[in-house]
Amino acid sequence: MNNDSITVFKGDTSRLKNVIPIQERVEPNFYQQEVARIFKKAWLIVGSAEDLIEIGAYKVVDVPPLKASLVVVRSDDGKIRVFHNVCRHRGDKLVHDEHGCKKSFTCRFHAWTYSNSGTLTGVTDSTQFLGLDKDKMGLVEVHSEVWENIVFVNFDKNPRQTLKEWLGPIYDQYAGFSANRIKIADHRVVLNTNWNLAVNAFCEGYHNLYIHKNTVPDYQGGKTNPKRHRAYLEVGEHFARYSAHGNPNHKATPAEGLLYKHSKPMFPAFTHFNMEDLPPGVNPSRFAQWAFDIMHVVPNFVIGPQANTHSIMFFWPIDHNKTDVRVMRFGFKSDRPSDRIAQAHSITRGREVLREDLATMETNYQGVASGGIPYLFLSEQEQLIQNHYRAADDLLRDAGSQ
Ligand code: FES
Ligand SMILES: [Fe+2]
Repeated sequence: MNNDSITVFKGDTSRLKNVIPIQERVEPNFYQQEVARIFKKAWLIVGSAEDLIEIGAYKVVDVPPLKASLVVVRSDDGKIRVFHNVCRHRGDKLVHDEHGCKKSFTCRFHAWTYSNSGTLTGVTDSTQFLGLDKDKMGLVEVHSEVWENIVFVNFDKNPRQTLKEWLGPIYDQYAGFSANRIKIADHRVVLNTNWNLAVNAFCEGYHNLYIHKNTVPDYQGGKTNPKRHRAYLEVGEHFARYSAHGNPNHKATPAEGLLYKHSKPMFPAFTHFNMEDLPPGVNPSRFAQWAFDIMHVVPNFVIGPQANTHSIMFFWPIDHNKTDVRVMRFGFKSDRPSDRIAQAHSITRGREVLREDLATMETNYQGVASGGIPYLFLSEQEQLIQNHYRAADDLLRDAGSQ
């Protein structure tokens, strides 16, 4: 480690590489391997459960790498279930609305009906079907689990690990981190880039001083940490995370000063608050000048816990050169107008920062795909990216040896 770094490192870094041959990784053939060996085997986020409170509430989620449409629904028994959005009769798409609340779903084609628990409850002209056993013709369920209000699925017929085993030590470290939050922003954009490069852009703070110099010029680092080295970096089997250093000398803008007087400070403010209220996974080293964390969950999911807010980001590959980027922000529940205004300010500023991040992705892909460089050359501050490729290679190899 360099002497000028403030970073505390944790985890097994012995298998990380700072040189990543990259050209073959953005080729169509490599992408097919990733789909078969990573996306068909891993636990994958399909969204937040915060908008599935009522019984019957559902949303339709596309999973592009698997060319799948799913229905995520809170069934009559209160459990969240995930089904292939495919009618068991002849396979038409069952639910066409993006979201809603229903006791049952009826197929538009020949009007077969299913309960929100997936049971086939109605077959039109049923005496015409030889050997019909409705009990065997429910919607096909996908393995799913909910972790801290986040819904995960696994497309493997027999997942080799439960979600708890997949997440390992972080599973129990985030209890309640998203409690009393509501979704305040939902961004989606499809970019001509490779999904690995898109994930990578959110897994380091090295770019912060440069790409974000106009939007958040002095929010991190400060005199004691001018290069904005991360306060904490940890790598694990299916996760990696860092903590960022807030700048104690940041000068609030007039708008921020006004808003934070009448509301809870949110991004881009990084305020001091009671660390004891944080679950152990958030700011794990209890760094006093903590600004926010970034945690990458393998393969394509990033969580960003922060004071009074957090974000979740996931990156669906549509093809080797096309990625569907989803970013959702969550804020504290409140009906006070001052809080709503503060949240709107935070959303707007966050969106500007996000645009700067997204603006790198297509040119980054073009450069790599052109063969202009043979490999990525990564610093210690980019260890989350190193871990991303280590984990991807492990999954590619393990699935291949089955
Ligand atoms: S395909 Fe749905 S009822 Fe025929
Ligand atoms: Fe950024």
